[in-house]
Amino acid sequence: MRDICFVTGNQNKFVEVKKLIKNFNLISNSDLNIEEEIPETENTIKGNSFLKSNYVHKKFGLSCFADDSGLFIKALNGDPGVKSARYASDKSDSDLNIDLVLKNLERETNRDAFFETYICLIINDEIHYFKGTIHGKISKERLGSAGFGYDPIFIPDGYKKSFAQMTLDEKNKISHRAIAIKKLVKFLNKK
Ligand code: IMP
Repeated sequence: MRDICFVTGNQNKFVEVKKLIKNFNLISNSDLNIEEEIPETENTIKGNSFLKSNYVHKKFGLSCFADDSGLFIKALNGDPGVKSARYASDKSDSDLNIDLVLKNLERETNRDAFFETYICLIINDEIHYFKGTIHGKISKERLGSAGFGYDPIFIPDGYKKSFAQMTLDEKNKISHRAIAIKKLVKFLNKK
């Protein structure tokens, strides 16, 4: 079976994706002893997905894919966007990030937002991108405690509850990341 590296430091994401990919041997950052932080210096999530995938592809000559996601809020001109993890501070603190979003939207009636994921796959010297988007609204306050990041303040369109009020299974059926991963898996399972 051919090797492919999923470039991620997030073990939960790795396990989830490994279950779905049938015809490749999925390799992790730790299998390759990657301990350094891979630079994410682009100003788009698409650019950062490429940087991460390309870093490991260049270093190890392996087929690779990497994902990058963000929350884009219309009334904030697309912020926090590519800066989603570190919107409020350099520490990647979800609580502070949510506080800042709610403060910045205090007087806003337009609560439209979307989550987006890009996956960049480099295989056979070709670059392929897979995108997943989910639209919704930012709530006035935190709702629920499951999930991570901005889940407590994001209510997907067509639902009356936030991502943080859903089970992981429920969220994983509709999320931006799930949509992008489904497209990637379909592509890889035909390779
Ligand atoms: P990553 O690229 O998947 O690490 O996502 C970057 C940042 O975007 C995270 O640190 C979160 O702040 C935010 N984010 C991405 N996906 C989600 C999600 O599904 N729920 C809540 N926040 C998310």
